[in-house]
This record gives sequence, structure tokens and C-alpha cells, in this order.
Amino acid sequence: MKISPSILASDYANLESELKKIESSDYIHVDVMDGHFVPNISIGAPVVSAIKKVCSVPFDVHLMISDPLKYAEDFANAGADIICFHVESDSDTSETIDKILSLGKKAALAVKPGTPVEEVIPYLDRLSMVLVMTVEPGFGGQSFMEGVMPKIEKLRELGYKGEIEVDGGVNAETIRIAAKAGADVFVAGSAVFRSESPKDTIRLLRDNAANAVI
Ligand code: DX5
Ligand code: ZN
Repeated sequence: MKISPSILASDYANLESELKKIESSDYIHVDVMDGHFVPNISIGAPVVSAIKKVCSVPFDVHLMISDPLKYAEDFANAGADIICFHVESDSDTSETIDKILSLGKKAALAVKPGTPVEEVIPYLDRLSMVLVMTVEPGFGGQSFMEGVMPKIEKLRELGYKGEIEVDGGVNAETIRIAAKAGADVFVAGSAVFRSESPKDTIRLLRDNAANAVI
């Protein structure tokens, strides 16, 4: 069970100290928004490159952008370890996966709540991870959508052995639901950064996920 805190909920004026607070996490989730695929604009490759220098936890970069094929190389050079893009983007899915793999990075594919999971099935053998969105991408602090759990169950029924990540509205309670469905990587923005002790929250989230499947 891996916890991937989203720095979207952190204090951008103090990223180095914010990253220190979550150094016990398994991945760092970096939300990249282009103001086109989603309404907001967040951060780009130069910021990823800067924070990579002060953080040794692997970077799980979630591209909420219209043309991931065009920018994959920038994010690979900036230090992304996992490059995740949306199956709903304008780029050719197969070509984008190949590009990410050719850059020596792990490829992940994300699906919005309204997109059938069948859309990712043709690509599973090349994906290290599938990201099943549990909110509409674009904003932190939304409520977890339990209705998408059958997508996770379906991927496991098909025998998918890679990582399945959930993103949006994950907290100490909703994480149990996602873990039971078969997810094993959990993004948490508000739950981690709005808590008194991010370190204790990361431990609690990991324990609750593990206990849910015993
Ligand atoms: C939503 C982002 C999420 C977001 C999660 O578009 O992809 O990663 O930061 O935030 P919380 O955990 O607050 O729902
Ligand atoms: Zn995200």
C-alpha cells in the first residue's frame, strides 16, 4: 500500500519544507494542469525540476493537460519517475505510452470518473499504473466518488497486476473502500496537508488501507 501526497494542497511558497513533512511517503504526486484540459493552471516542468533537487522520494507526475505527447520529454528531463496522462487527452494514447517508455520512465494512464475503464484495457501490458480518478480532475478538496470502485474491481478481475491508484477525496475512511476494491496507491492532498502531522497521517492512511484487505 503506497501513499502519494499531492503537493497541490501544499504551500507553494515553501515547497522544500512542505516536501520535508512528507518524506515518509512512497511517491510525491505532482498535479500538472494546463488551463485547457482542466480549468485551472498549476505548475510545470521547471518547478518539478527545482523540487526534484531537494527530494529523494519518487515523483508521480499527473498530467492533466491536452497534449501529453508534446510535453512528456520535458517532464522526464525534469525528474518525473512515473508519467501519468489521461486517456481523454488529445494525444495518441499508444504513441504517448511508447514515448514515455523510450524516455526510460514508467507510464501510467488516468481515467476520469465518467470514462469507461474499457478504454485503458488495450494498453495494460505497457502500463506500470492505472489512475482511476475518484473526483473530476481540476480541483483539490472534493468528495470521494465511491461509484467508480467497479472500475478498479474490473481491472483486478482481468488480472491486471500493476499498480492501481485512486486520486481525489481520499481520507482515513474512504481509503478503506478503495483498498477493498483493489487499489494500492492512494493520492491524498487535503487529508495530508491539512492535518496537524502529515507524517502521522501518512502512517494512518497506510495502516487503514492495509487493514481493509486483511
Ligand atoms: C485533482 C487532483 C488531485 C488532488 C487531490 O484534480 O488530480 O490530485 O490534488 O486532492 P484531494 O486529496 O484534496 O482530493
Ligand atoms: Zn492528481
